[in-house]
Amino acid sequence: MQMAMKGLRLHLLALGALLATTAGCAVEREPNMEFAPWINHMMFSSAAESYAPSPVSAKTGKPVFANGRVNQLPPLGTIPRDFAPLHFSNDEAGRVAAAATFPKAPVEATPENLARGAWGFATFCVPCHAADGSGAGLVAKKAGWNFPIGYTDSNAGKWADGYLFHIVSYGRNNMPSYASQINQLDRWKIILHLRALQQQNGAAPVAVEPAAAATPSAPAAAAVPATK
Ligand code: HEC
Repeated sequence: MQMAMKGLRLHLLALGALLATTAGCAVEREPNMEFAPWINHMMFSSAAESYAPSPVSAKTGKPVFANGRVNQLPPLGTIPRDFAPLHFSNDEAGRVAAAATFPKAPVEATPENLARGAWGFATFCVPCHAADGSGAGLVAKKAGWNFPIGYTDSNAGKWADGYLFHIVSYGRNNMPSYASQINQLDRWKIILHLRALQQQNGAAPVAVEPAAAATPSAPAAAAVPATK
């Protein structure tokens, strides 16, 4: 019996190979020949609707998915490809922890990385912080606040790279999170560019405008309307 099954299987394989070699000659517009119709439930499977209740198994009479749904949650701890989760809380303790973990950016300041950082800064940061990091971007001017980040004596000039990375990743007060727009590597490269800007600008120029909110040391909460 076993031998016979084996023989049959070999025949089927041979037939399959023959069909595969001749399939190339078939007229492309015609549907392919149905081979072994008793096993082609894959061919005629009915796709379940994502948001419909789970189909019922013909075998068990129970829903295919125990929770009765078609869409299933990914297993706990699943992360998207190329995504590394950040294990820092979204508060000052998290910022401090990020600063301790990353006193320096884990990315080298090569010309390519700096160029990429400059591109990111010009794309995402300039509207508020201005090209030179003076904080006098168009949005900031309209909103009436100013957060300079391009000077060695600004807060950003004194904080560790990890602290800045945390601010860009999670946002802070009126500063939005850029985690969904800028991947982690590019965020680090933006910080490299920011460091280059700070070196270039050195200390902040003496403020000529009388606006108190324009000084780097102004308390953030007082300068920013609370519209989180
Ligand atoms: C929509 C306007 C806006 C954009 C765009 C923006 N920021 Fe900010 N940023 C702010 C505001 C407002 C603050 C002050 C946050 C606070 O009150 O803590 C801030 C604060 C900061 C600080 C801390 C400065 C300090 O002294 O408190 C850093 C560093 C910073 N931003 C970096 C960036 C970088 C890098 C980008 C681009 C990826 C960026 N920001 C884009 C509005 C913006």
